[in-house]
Amino acid sequence: MTRIYFNDVVTRDGFQIEPNFIPTEDKIRLINELSLCGFAKIEVTSFTSPKAIPMLRDAEEVMGKIKRLPGVEYTVLVPNLRGAERALESRADEFNLVMSTSETHNLANLRMTREKSFAGLAEVIQYVDGRTPINVSLSTAFGCPMEGEVPQEVVEGFVKRFSDLGVRGLTICDTTGMANPAQVTKMSESLQRLFPKLQLTMHFHNTRGMGLANVLAAVQAGIIRFDGSLGGLGGCPYAPGASGNISSEDAIHMLDAMGYDTGIDISRLLVLARELPAIVGHAVPGQVAKAGRTCDLHPAPDFISDLR
Ligand code: COA
Ligand code: ZN
Repeated sequence: MTRIYFNDVVTRDGFQIEPNFIPTEDKIRLINELSLCGFAKIEVTSFTSPKAIPMLRDAEEVMGKIKRLPGVEYTVLVPNLRGAERALESRADEFNLVMSTSETHNLANLRMTREKSFAGLAEVIQYVDGRTPINVSLSTAFGCPMEGEVPQEVVEGFVKRFSDLGVRGLTICDTTGMANPAQVTKMSESLQRLFPKLQLTMHFHNTRGMGLANVLAAVQAGIIRFDGSLGGLGGCPYAPGASGNISSEDAIHMLDAMGYDTGIDISRLLVLARELPAIVGHAVPGQVAKAGRTCDLHPAPDFISDLR
């Protein structure tokens, strides 16, 4: 049975775009519950400028108060050197550096050119100097909502440059749900062939309903690491039309039904997913929490016994 590793990003990718501040205590409780569900990794928060992402201005407090379970990696998003200093102080298990493969999206999201971002992140990697494993998330790798197509060679070029700097992993992000399964197959096969030693993670958004099809395409191409978000919340505040990540519970339910080992207690996860609307104050896109699992059967109506 192939083992698939899930990273839940709801408290970072999900909450960064929420219209209302989620109370710190709710974030901590949610992360503690996610740990108990069996996630391999949880992206807890981001050490970005609190002016840029005010929803995550409580990053230090959240990192300081969560209960860390052995076997779960607690990762944080780090945009620059200042973020790395804060993340080191918080003793995060992994730093997730971020830049975009599209020049326009990088300018909108990080206020600098891709080359300036690369140079800044290279400086962060040098500063961290192996004290904490580093992952780099490459945004808009399957297309940019402002520029359109991002050639696969451009994505591979950045993967190569970060790989040469010694990072542990790369996450290939479909920031605004533009990827299709054929493209995912091609990208997954090529990256694994070119970079067999890197930890590769796929990060899909379900903006156009292709999220789970893309997960399947990636799994069938040999990818074993995925980002997902409880309830399917999420989105980049600097990407027009961005909407939710793939729902962790929907993706895990699908893979579970197909016989993959996700290591997740899905009943427990669904209990948590059903609490999410009350935490954020609105309905969430995830479907399995509403419909129940395929194995959660309903009683048949009484009248059919007369018809048997
Ligand atoms: N943590 C805390 N404060 C930070 C910071 C960090 N990592 N990086 C910058 N700042 C502060 C600076 O101290 C400065 O504060 P001041 O105005 O009180 O002096 C202010 O932010 C501006 O700093 P500057 O270096 O000019 O950065 P910037 O405004 O160009 O911001 C980013 C650069 C990338 C840090 C910022 O745009 C950001 O955090 N963006 C969010 C990216 C993101 O998470 N997007 C969604 C996920 S993909
Ligand atoms: Zn995302």
